[in-house]
Amino acid sequence: MSTAKISVARKAINHIEKKLSKDMVLGIGTGSTVNFFIDELSNFKNYFKGAVSSSEASTILLERNGIDVFSLNDVNRLEFYIDGADEVSPDNVLIKGGGGAHTREKIVASASREFICIVDQSKLVDKLGDFPLPIEVIPESRSLVARKIISLGGTPIYRNGFVTDQGNHILDIKDIDISQPEKLESLINNIPGVIDNGIFAFNKPNIVFVSD
Ligand code: A5P
Repeated sequence: MSTAKISVARKAINHIEKKLSKDMVLGIGTGSTVNFFIDELSNFKNYFKGAVSSSEASTILLERNGIDVFSLNDVNRLEFYIDGADEVSPDNVLIKGGGGAHTREKIVASASREFICIVDQSKLVDKLGDFPLPIEVIPESRSLVARKIISLGGTPIYRNGFVTDQGNHILDIKDIDISQPEKLESLINNIPGVIDNGIFAFNKPNIVFVSD
């Protein structure tokens, strides 16, 4: 599996390598595939300015590799956002958030000109939803949101003991119909107490690289 992740990380490097510039800041996602990408990216750290990170875990890894990390508040333009996914549909809608980082991932993706998604073959699905859909919720609203999700036909499972970088909780939703992803993404995000859910229908990647 790590061979596949390294190979797809290199595809993303090949895509951006020639376009890097001294004033360029990159958006960086979260997860094991991105970790390999950060390793590869460190070989080019003198050719770009730094990164905006989507999680504390990626920030630590970036800094350990000598790549400067900036707040999104201090950066006007992100040329590329590179991230993995938990599921990729045939029309490139994603489910993300297996690592609980999807809220910041979506923010940084939305701030970037080009979203490059890097996955191994196992992430490609005909139909979204085998991977439970993560929802980040304000802790106090967890039970309320869970009841609303049940009324939508889903089965919420509290990710016990997990706290997001923002101090919130995660509900993982099974059995929910994701055949209309934009509609469901909006519907869930309209429930009071929901921070964001892991459907990336409005922020789809521009390119999906898949391992050989
Ligand atoms: C993090 O919350 C997720 O959105 C990750 O991007 C996703 O889980 C992919 O991670 P892996 O590369 O580890 O499969």
